[in-house]
Amino acid sequence: MTCKKKLGRNQKDTNADMINLVDNVNRDDDLKYNRRAFLKTAVGTSVALGVATIPFSVKAMLGVEKDYERVEIAKLTDLPEGDSVVFNYPTEKDPAILVHTVNGDLKAYNSACTHLMCPVFYEKEQDVLLCPCHAGYFDVNSGHPTAGPPQRELPLIEIEVDNGIVYAVGRQYRHG
Ligand code: FES
Repeated sequence: MTCKKKLGRNQKDTNADMINLVDNVNRDDDLKYNRRAFLKTAVGTSVALGVATIPFSVKAMLGVEKDYERVEIAKLTDLPEGDSVVFNYPTEKDPAILVHTVNGDLKAYNSACTHLMCPVFYEKEQDVLLCPCHAGYFDVNSGHPTAGPPQRELPLIEIEVDNGIVYAVGRQYRHG
């Protein structure tokens, strides 16, 4: 930066001098500093936005949609091994099934078949989830399709058992 003009002894400030003060910055320097400031701001903003969205990205990677209500499904005493019960979760429009498998595990999924939305049922003899519409089969332990037209797994309903009562507490969409 250079000062273009020096005021003489008897010279007074004029409007032209004020303009010269503004012009004091070399045009190339001015562009360089503006570009640098812009880049700093742009990079800083990008980093800030990226950091702010990390929690949402992690949730999305884990397949967790959002925070869900804890909803009672059934009493364990009403659900012996090899039995199942239907319920709706997370809304009344989302049919779901809780299975107490023949091996003693508790598994819950949204029960709309991932082919064309027919409800799936627990087939105790084969220990599978069966969609009767087009003979679609799902592994009861994972919800993954094993035979027939379905290509995607059933959404998993997360459950908790508390004092002999089974609750739905969340839902996960899995891909892969
Ligand atoms: S709707 Fe389930 S297999 Fe077609």
